Amino acid sequence: MAIPIYVIGSSNTDMVVKTEKLPMPGETVMGGIFFMNPGGKGANQAVAAARLGGQVIFIVNVGSDIFGKQSVQHFHRENINTTYVTMDPEQPSGVALIGVDSHGENSISVAPGSNSQLDIRKVERALKTVTAPAIVLLQMEIPMATVEYAIGLGHSKGLHVILNPAPARPLGEAILKRLHVITPNESEAELLTGIRVIDASSAAQAAKKIRSLGVRNVVITLGSKGAFLLNDTIAGQISTPAVKAVDTTAAGDCFNGALGVALSEKKPLEEAVAFACRAASISVTRLGAQASMPYRKEVDELVKATVQSN
Ligand code: ATP
Ligand code: RIB
Repeated sequence: MAIPIYVIGSSNTDMVVKTEKLPMPGETVMGGIFFMNPGGKGANQAVAAARLGGQVIFIVNVGSDIFGKQSVQHFHRENINTTYVTMDPEQPSGVALIGVDSHGENSISVAPGSNSQLDIRKVERALKTVTAPAIVLLQMEIPMATVEYAIGLGHSKGLHVILNPAPARPLGEAILKRLHVITPNESEAELLTGIRVIDASSAAQAAKKIRSLGVRNVVITLGSKGAFLLNDTIAGQISTPAVKAVDTTAAGDCFNGALGVALSEKKPLEEAVAFACRAASISVTRLGAQASMPYRKEVDELVKATVQSN
């Protein structure tokens, strides 16, 4: 039986404008298209994991406004367990304003709203009866006190905690040494180590430094260059399928959701990272955050196509 995945994190409504180029401060860029779709790092990872076949329980605090109500209906449709979804009586639901340019690059401003009220009590209630084996998947769009508490509790119960340290913030030893896997992107790895990550060799140096801070398994995502994996037994770059990127928003979220699923199926880490790269490469070919998350069949078909072309 697959191991359950407890995703603890944010939910936003993404308001996206796609233009030729992103505006500079003070500049107005005309000619864009607008769309609205479900987002938020936690919800994106929960949806990615559920579409890929994971047994997902989502711990999130939405607003009791129209966006929050729509989000809960959406989680149900995506086969996500909503037992621990709460509705904040005061704070509005989270909103992200996103610009995407013609190369698929983005810039994001977030008003966290109810996500900032996902407190320790809500996590304690959700995890108190959970026993190993289970996976806890976290990002950092919720209060850091909650992230730290969830990591401590998960670790003390012998659960496998995956931290996607996004948006970037410095992390203390108390967090790092309790993680099973950490998954920074290039800029997050730079913030954690002071090493500018631009290729496999700088990723190797940064991964080594993060491991020296106490994390057993380090996976640095490298966009179109795939990911770098370092642990006791493996040090190497894992490639991602070459695609034409339309919108990279939530590529990292897709990667993390997929990684959680592969680990919940007890795949070895190297195989899990390759699976996550394949899933994320599909997500960047589509517009939007949750709208871009692939289904399991699509990732499995990509494997078949790759095997046949070799
Ligand atoms: P974002 O912040 O845009 O959601 P991220 O910076 O957290 O993403 P990235 O390292 O850019 O994460 O991408 C995560 C994964 O997505 C990569 O490891 C890779 O597998 C896939 N990916 C991203 N961009 C591309 C691309 N242009 N072509 C193929 N795969 C990609
Ligand atoms: O990682 C992408 C997500 O970041 C978007 O969906 C947006 O809501 C912000 O949280």
